[in-house]
Amino acid sequence: MNKKCTVIIVLLLLVIGGGVYKFIFQGSVSESTDGRIAIHLNGGERDLVLGEMRMFLENVQQIIIGVNENDMARIAESARIVGRAAQAAVPGTLLGKLPAEFKALGFDTHSKFDELASNAEQFGDPAYSLRLLSDLMNNCVSCHAAYKINTPATGL
Ligand code: HEC
Repeated sequence: MNKKCTVIIVLLLLVIGGGVYKFIFQGSVSESTDGRIAIHLNGGERDLVLGEMRMFLENVQQIIIGVNENDMARIAESARIVGRAAQAAVPGTLLGKLPAEFKALGFDTHSKFDELASNAEQFGDPAYSLRLLSDLMNNCVSCHAAYKINTPATGL
C-alpha cells in the first residue's frame, strides 16, 4: 500500500472515530452558567425527557403512598410503570445528544425501579421498599446536580 493511501485511511479512521466518540460518549453538550453540563435538545426532545421525569415524580409519590398504606400491590405497580419497559422508544437522534454517563444513570434508574417492584412482589416489606426508593433517589439527585437541558428559544 502506498503512503498516500495509508494517510487517507488513517484520516478516515480518525473522522469515523471522532463521530463514534461524539455520538456514543460525549453527546451534544456545553458548560452551563451554573456549573452543570447543558445538554442541547430541541423542543420535542426536551418534552420527551421531561415527560419521563414527571412520570418518575408521580410514581415516587405513589410508592410512598403505598408504603404509608402498607399496600404492596400499589408499590409494585407504580415502580413497574417507571421500570425498564417505560423507556419509551427513544429516537436515535436524541440518544446521540445524550452523554454516555447520562444514559447510564437513566438506565440504572429504570432498572432500580424494576428491582424495587420485584422486591415488593416477593418480600412484601414496605420499610425495605422505602429504603430501596431512598437509595435509587441518589440517581435523581446526582443527575440533576450534573446536567440541565438547554433548548433554543422558539418564541412560543
Ligand atoms: C439521567 C439523569 C436524570 C435522572 C436519573 C433523573 N433526572 Fe429528572 N431531570 C433531569 C434533567 C436534565 C432535567 C432538566 C433539568 C433542567 O433543565 O434544569 C430533569 C428534570 C426533572 C423534573 C422537572 C420536570 C419538568 O416538567 O420540568 C422532575 C420533576 C424530575 N426531573 C424528577 C426526577 C425524579 C423524581 C428522578 C428520580 C426518580 C429523576 N428526575 C431522575 C435528569 C435526570
